[in-house]
Amino acid sequence: MSEKKFNRTTVTAALIYANGPIHIGHLAGCYVPADVYVRYLRAKGEDVAFISGTDEHGVPITIRAQKEGITPQEVVDKYYTQINQSFVDFGIDFDIYSRTSKPIHHEMSQEIFLQLYNQGKFVEEVTEQYYDEKAGQFLADRYIVGTCPVCGNENAYGDQCERCGSTLSPRELINPRSMLSGGTPILKETKNWNLPLDAMQPELEKYVASHPEWKTNVAGQVRSWLNEGLKPRAMTRDLDWGIKVPLPNAEGKVMYVWFDAPIGYITFTKELKGDDWEKWWKADDTRLIHFIGKDNIVFHCLIFPAMLMADGRFIAGADNVPANEFMNLEGDKISTSRNWAVWLHEYLEDMPGKQDVLRYTLIANAPETKDSEFTWKDYQTRNNSELVGILGNFVNRAVVLTEKNFGPAVPALGELTEADQKMLEELALYPAKIADSLDNFRFREGLSLFIEVARLGNQYLASTEPWKVIKENPERAATILNLSLQITASLSILAEPFLPFTATKLREMLNLTDTNWSKAGSASLLPEGHSIQNKGLLFEKIEDAVIEAQVQKLLDTKKMNELASKTPAPQKEAITYDDFSKLDIRIATITAAEAVPKSKKLLKLTLNTGIDTRTVVSGIAEHFSPEAIIGQQVSLLANLAPRKMMGIESQGMILMAEDRDGKLQFIRPGEPIWNGGTVS
Ligand code: MF3
Ligand code: ZN
Repeated sequence: MSEKKFNRTTVTAALIYANGPIHIGHLAGCYVPADVYVRYLRAKGEDVAFISGTDEHGVPITIRAQKEGITPQEVVDKYYTQINQSFVDFGIDFDIYSRTSKPIHHEMSQEIFLQLYNQGKFVEEVTEQYYDEKAGQFLADRYIVGTCPVCGNENAYGDQCERCGSTLSPRELINPRSMLSGGTPILKETKNWNLPLDAMQPELEKYVASHPEWKTNVAGQVRSWLNEGLKPRAMTRDLDWGIKVPLPNAEGKVMYVWFDAPIGYITFTKELKGDDWEKWWKADDTRLIHFIGKDNIVFHCLIFPAMLMADGRFIAGADNVPANEFMNLEGDKISTSRNWAVWLHEYLEDMPGKQDVLRYTLIANAPETKDSEFTWKDYQTRNNSELVGILGNFVNRAVVLTEKNFGPAVPALGELTEADQKMLEELALYPAKIADSLDNFRFREGLSLFIEVARLGNQYLASTEPWKVIKENPERAATILNLSLQITASLSILAEPFLPFTATKLREMLNLTDTNWSKAGSASLLPEGHSIQNKGLLFEKIEDAVIEAQVQKLLDTKKMNELASKTPAPQKEAITYDDFSKLDIRIATITAAEAVPKSKKLLKLTLNTGIDTRTVVSGIAEHFSPEAIIGQQVSLLANLAPRKMMGIESQGMILMAEDRDGKLQFIRPGEPIWNGGTVS
């Protein structure tokens, strides 16, 4: 940690694009860690502003609008509402959750753009950019796709290849094509305003070097950008959706979405704090922390700091950017387009009231240093053996034993034994240990220390056995349960960052109001006689069937994706009419059908062909039962040379159509026709 003295912390969480619902990967990568951190700071009584909202500009929004056939404004209205609701539902407790489409944000962005412009920080440049003549539009960022020069992915975007992670510019793509018309774009001159990151490299190097405490995954990415050498980056685009460039002669120009979006952090702080906002971005004793996913690192560690430096009025870059890597799902990358995700709104429908179980699992598997994995099996195990088996079990025993033996009040604390003392000494160490983990953004470690506290409680109960002691020595049992409730009270404070819903329930059970972090670990949180109230089990066991249903949902998705990716077979080589006319295809009726002994696949069919009654052996036993097809009309290739199958001579072949999942159907006339009617 850098030893900066600070009196307040501005915590931001990435402004997600308002172009779709959110899933567990978003929570795990960015929002849960941010929320844990902020709740922890608040529990310590620190001054903190927790800022986020939706990013409502840029090509991701307009492309979505095109796909859904609605306006960009309708897209952002729809998804802002849904995303905001998911955050509320999962207890992500922002001080403000706003939107970059608000007028106050347009004003702030234009003001900062002009500040940079007036100080001569931009370099104007006329360059040739790709242009779609049919659509009459320049093709910025994701409006252009082509082959990645690094890995050969044929669907790389103009700004990034999602397969190899390379950052690209449109001119680097091989075989570029327009996302709008699919056609090949032409090059056309246009003027843009660049931020000369190349010239700013020394300043940025210095800034990065002053933060040796950054996480290695973050520092590594930043280092590789710096080593490659920064290049100027255009801060404007030729688009119509976005914030207008506030200059004369800038008709049709808007700001680059990555210029205006991070300014949103500033705008929203102003919205939240009113006249008092500036110290949150300008004062030397303010600490700035950005929570993001790994795909946002360069923007938060280099480009936004460069903007702030160029402006000159703000903190010149975050103090820390504890970015996470990605979380995978059941062995595969989470993907919106393949619907390979656990969507938060669906989770809540399927697992009502289990927000903390998900938070727990996501923190326990957080992709803090490398990509991690969510599996439903692990989710179940974490719930059943840790939340139910350790935390819930301890709290339930402490509360139920107390109520049963002493009524709903904290029993008297008598003399302490050596074992009591030892337990209390150990308990007292945890708040500082957990704090150290959280101060250093090691949330997994913090969570596992938290669970150790409950484990300590269980060990204490197991070794003191109050349920036995109560008969002989009720005073001793009172002391044991008093101390068990003190542990529970500590748990209620320490749970707050990780499991806020559970923490609230615990506080209600214990009627605990003073929940400052500094109180945790103490042996005297609850005075004798203080009333408590059992509110039932904290967690419930999750049965196999519930987990299997979730896994099945994903398997169904996988199946659908496989089917969707199948394409019809290519056309066969051309034949002449004479070739075709050799085929005798006619309509016949199945008059009898039976299984062929010892064969899984074959049915023996009897057909009335209009010219005769004959036997055909057909490989359809896995698709049709004999009874179901008697009386049905089919198309028969009647002049196929007879052939023996399983000892039965087959005189022709039934024509079938195969669906993409391998299901078969007969080819037959729409209305019944006479047997022997020809197909030509
Ligand atoms: N909208 C971006 C994304 O979803 C994140 C923007 S973060 C901000 O990847 F800094 F620009 F706000
Ligand atoms: Zn690539």
